[in-house]
Amino acid sequence: MIPIDAAHPDQTRISKLGAAILAGALVAFPTETVYGLGADATNADAVAAIFTAKERPNTDPLIVHIADISQLSLVTGHTLAELPENVAKLVTRFWPGPLTLVLPRGPAIPNGVTAGLTTVGVRLPAHPIARALIAAAGVPIAAPSANRFGHTSPTTAAHVFADLGDRIPWIIDGGPSQVGIESTILDMTVTPPRLLRPGGVLLEEIEAALGMPVAYQERSVTSAAATAQAPGLLLSHYAPRARLLVFEGADIAATWERAVSEVAALAVRGERVGVLSLDTLAGRFRTAGAIAIAPLGTGDNTASVAHQLFAGLRALDDAEVSTIVCGAFDPMGLGLAIRDRLWRAAGGVVISVDAPAASDEAREA
Ligand code: TXA
Ligand code: MG
Repeated sequence: MIPIDAAHPDQTRISKLGAAILAGALVAFPTETVYGLGADATNADAVAAIFTAKERPNTDPLIVHIADISQLSLVTGHTLAELPENVAKLVTRFWPGPLTLVLPRGPAIPNGVTAGLTTVGVRLPAHPIARALIAAAGVPIAAPSANRFGHTSPTTAAHVFADLGDRIPWIIDGGPSQVGIESTILDMTVTPPRLLRPGGVLLEEIEAALGMPVAYQERSVTSAAATAQAPGLLLSHYAPRARLLVFEGADIAATWERAVSEVAALAVRGERVGVLSLDTLAGRFRTAGAIAIAPLGTGDNTASVAHQLFAGLRALDDAEVSTIVCGAFDPMGLGLAIRDRLWRAAGGVVISVDAPAASDEAREA
């Protein structure tokens, strides 16, 4: 574990780690979204080692990270000027930042990075350590989130160490990731552009920048067949060890009320219950018998919810709860990404507070 101060990255350390990347080693590093597990994106063997370390199926493509716009042509085979005008609009507005664009794949990027797809996900991160590392390596860096496959994404170096510490040589500790959930993924190879994963850059902001609507179907991936079209957007992702019960409904406050009564019911049966809790409800969850509370902030501050969501899931697992309970968030702004992560973390099952009959079914599943 190598500590590096994000405000003043130590150039000697960064150069050494950049050289390690270029030599084919794996380096876990902070980004503003979550920590990534990086390798030289042009080195097929180094990229293969990422899949081995994570136990990730090789059908799940990686995002390629660049330090500046000039590296776009190496990754996509096209300069920014050669790509559609809409790409330039988004790049100008949102890079560096938590937006991944799916673009044509250039010849320098081996098959293994993109799981054989002719497209590639590209992102120019905002985090100073991430950019310094890519610049020092001198090559684009392929990096998935630095967790074991299917597990909760890491937002601290300690999370990375817990999942991969015995498998990778280097972990940069640059402090907690600010955004806390992954980048937004937008497919720019289709018209209209399609949102594949909601994330740090908001759908509303993207539509405003493009001046056109973007295609998005919430929770569209429900089967293995459907997953083949958007590889990696799997159900049962981000999962904690504990069972996760997510209550949903049109009336957001009612979903949280239901979460409180569920905690009480489970606690009475002797279960070790943890809660992803709005700050205003923490006291009530405790009174209801929760043994561990992961605070998310307030419901109207979705930035704080996103920032604390994955860390909260890990903290509740560390408290060895058997069940985690959570309520709903509005499907707007960052709420879209928060809902997506909770849904997948719960294995694609939510409990509807609007329709009690369906809820019993969901809980059996
Ligand atoms: O914020 C992030 O995006 C983080 C940090 C480290 O940059 N990375 C990340 O990577 O979340 P990962 O591998 O955990 O998730 C990336 C997802 C893949 O699961 C895959 O579904 C999608 O991006 N993806 C990558 N390339 C794609 C492509 N060419 N077409 C469609 N989806 C793609
Ligand atoms: Mg991931």
